[in-house]
Amino acid sequence: MTFHIVVTREIPNAGLQLLSRSGFSLTVNRKPRALTRPELLRMVRGAHAVVTQLTDRVDRTFIAAAGPQLRIVANYAVGYDNIDVTECAKHGIAVTNTPGILTDAVADHTFALLLSVARRIVESDRFTRTGRFSGWAPDLLLGLGIWGKTLGIIGLGNIGKAVAHRAARGFNMRVLYTDQRRDRAFERTYRARFLPLPRLLAEADVVSLHVPLTPKTRHLIGAKELRRMKTTAILVNTARGPVVDESALIRAVAKKTIFGAGLDVFECEPEITCDLRSHRLLARLPNIVLTPHTASGTTEARAAMAVSAATNVLTVLRGRRAPNAVSGA
Ligand code: GLV
Ligand code: GLV
Repeated sequence: MTFHIVVTREIPNAGLQLLSRSGFSLTVNRKPRALTRPELLRMVRGAHAVVTQLTDRVDRTFIAAAGPQLRIVANYAVGYDNIDVTECAKHGIAVTNTPGILTDAVADHTFALLLSVARRIVESDRFTRTGRFSGWAPDLLLGLGIWGKTLGIIGLGNIGKAVAHRAARGFNMRVLYTDQRRDRAFERTYRARFLPLPRLLAEADVVSLHVPLTPKTRHLIGAKELRRMKTTAILVNTARGPVVDESALIRAVAKKTIFGAGLDVFECEPEITCDLRSHRLLARLPNIVLTPHTASGTTEARAAMAVSAATNVLTVLRGRRAPNAVSGA
């Protein structure tokens, strides 16, 4: 039987080649943009496997549009909040993600944001670039030291641990964490402390978010949580935008009740047409550093993610359980 694979947006060649050499039929969206909803629903019709992006919503309508032959939805991302996993399971559709291989890229990016905020790198670049540098000065663009400070990790998955590793080993930081579960081995390795969220927020100099987006983590950080943070604290979000109440964050940063924030993800995601009003407010604040959801964006990580998504697809089409199945299907 020949299977039909749909890739909703071009992914690195390493993955596409695996798929095209499999002998199954393959359709790839070659447009340099995400498909609109109608385009997506049209394209997945008849597919046995779909490689999706975090901008594609996989729900009941998607499943019905694809048809009953659909066996796997392979998300080209570690997060899969765009997919209704329960609905997929009901239809026997496997759902997979790409965990592990993008961990270091995201952890590096988390540190890049953290250091950029602490040392005001973007402001300093703009200052220097626009010709305002007129020589060394004792009080010029002073930032915050990170060495030996306290890091609070919210969500101790692979990425949270990789950030903690960099912090403890590279920056002599004290590590606090909060999660649904305690991890004693992690605590021993990094002399880390498990704390409930309110205490972690009060003690951390840097708070870094690494939870998936679920109904429980939506607005996990709101006005009340931001008020608990130190006035010298930095918030970094490389997880999902809606984990933070963006309006509350804008107010906190504008009023300087925290030092600053580094954001790779935004509350308006994953909609293709973001509400840019909030972005404009964010962009006016000098103590916020913004990147466009690129934390996993290294050439190496993206190629590995493509291979992982392709491998998940081929494994399931060949009748075996996918290595990165997130549902029981
Ligand atoms: C990116 O945000 C991912 O979930 O891989
Ligand atoms: C991602 O790989 C995570 O578990 O944090």
